[in-house]
Amino acid sequence: MAHVETPLVSVRGLGKRFSGVTALTGIDLDITPGTVHALVGENGAGKSTLGKVIAGVVRPDDGEMRVDGVPVTFRSPADALAAGIAAIQQEIALVPARTAVENVFLGREPRRRGLPDARAMRRRFDELRESLRFNVSPIGSVGVLRTGEQQKVEIMRAVARDARLVVMDEPTAALGVDEVEHLLAAIKRLRERGTTIVFVSHRLEEVKEIADAITVLRNGELVTTRPAAEISAPQLVEAMLGRSLQSAFPTIAPCSPDAPVVLSARGVRRSDVLRDVSLEIRAGEIVGLAGLVGSGRSELARALFGADQLDAGTVEVDGEPVVMRSPKDAIDAGIALIPESRKDEGLFVDATVARNVTMAHLHTITRRGVVQPHRERAEVARAIDEFDIRPGDPRQIVGTLSGGNQQKVLFSKWLLRHPKVLIADEPTRGVDIGAKLAIYEIIAGLAGEGMGVLVISSELEEVLGLAHRVLVMRQGRIARELSREDANPERVMHAAFGTETAQVAA
Ligand SMILES: Nc1ncnc2c1ncn2[C@@H]1O[C@H](COP(=O)(O)OP(=O)(O)OP(=O)(O)O)[C@@H](O)[C@H]1O
Ligand SMILES: [Mg+2]
Repeated sequence: MAHVETPLVSVRGLGKRFSGVTALTGIDLDITPGTVHALVGENGAGKSTLGKVIAGVVRPDDGEMRVDGVPVTFRSPADALAAGIAAIQQEIALVPARTAVENVFLGREPRRRGLPDARAMRRRFDELRESLRFNVSPIGSVGVLRTGEQQKVEIMRAVARDARLVVMDEPTAALGVDEVEHLLAAIKRLRERGTTIVFVSHRLEEVKEIADAITVLRNGELVTTRPAAEISAPQLVEAMLGRSLQSAFPTIAPCSPDAPVVLSARGVRRSDVLRDVSLEIRAGEIVGLAGLVGSGRSELARALFGADQLDAGTVEVDGEPVVMRSPKDAIDAGIALIPESRKDEGLFVDATVARNVTMAHLHTITRRGVVQPHRERAEVARAIDEFDIRPGDPRQIVGTLSGGNQQKVLFSKWLLRHPKVLIADEPTRGVDIGAKLAIYEIIAGLAGEGMGVLVISSELEEVLGLAHRVLVMRQGRIARELSREDANPERVMHAAFGTETAQVAA
């Protein structure tokens, strides 16, 4: 084929360093208009940085960039937007107190006689919602929406800005299975309209499904760019890691049916999001919690952790009732929660790795209320080593770590406490395949040592691969319980959607 299309975006010799860390070096890349171009690589490989350079969020140190063959220098995201490039960041960036409609049109409100035209905004919002088939409420502040919903608002905003190229940094990371399907369908519709997408994701199946071309990054370098059809998932993993990997779940030791119950919840209710939920977790048992986004999974996690007030119900740890007025009560009772949203609930992004790691268990490093620096150093060094946090500098500000490494900090923060019960809500979200397997090993190891674990995940294979027992939630209730032997994707999905026939329903 002689026909060569001018790339929409083309970069040559692109480099970026952050105070000594090389995030990108010598990147040559062409992005063909009207395609979905995926960026894959391990945590810290440079995917987000490359996306940010393209979208004008980060200024490169070296190299040049062209749009439609014309050299450009973006000094800000506004410059990129003027060239038709918008970005959806890895961490959500909405104005929490405003509505979805306001966020979508923020700074570019349709106007009438100089004033924002609320009606026109609402009409365009509805059109957008219709064309993307996103079921997002126009009213109420977006701050109270679930992460998956907020992400949709961000996508709508990019589309509303008539972007020709949208950089999507892990847009599916926070979405449930059904929502991922919607999003991938929406991306396909955008592509049909001629929009170009730069798509960053750790989920290789969806990359394979959606991408036309795939670029693999490793340690800030571009390893290869290939048509998606010409590279298999194992080849991708090998290119990402620079070695081959048997991706498998660790051996899960059987859990004794008469191991003591470490966590027991009975008749838990909270408005209409949790309707009479009861469950038990035994020492050494990994219970998986599946269900669609909105089925009540995260709400249950928050309730068990004392983050939300219960309308009714009791929670016991080791047979002792726990009065849950706040997370502190849960923590004191031996429950740890790895929350769904690391930014809002889990991490202090402006503080160092060391502070974040030790924050949740100051008592182990203090003496009469004073931090003992040698103990702190030892604990932090252990965490960095055990969880392979990169870069392994305790003084690094957490907000500057790559997404997956932030997740590892969050994990270590809670686990150094040795809780009796661990509730892990989307524990591997945004984590690369290597780190993911490490987290699976950690979870299996903790259960092996007698911890009770509740794993909530939108990735079905994660739930099925780890759990001794799977609970499927639907509409605020536990709709079905499946043993490890009986659990399979079809059964779980049927229970989640409520499409199973009456006789198999629990
Ligand atoms: N603002 C910053 N300050 C300092 N270092 C940074 C900053 N942003 C990125 N880095 C570093 O640059 C490297 C590449 O980070 P980047 O966020 O691009 O990785 P990534 O491929 O998106 O990873 P992940 O899959 O974990 O999101 C990492 O070593 C990271 O710590
Ligand atoms: Mg990233």
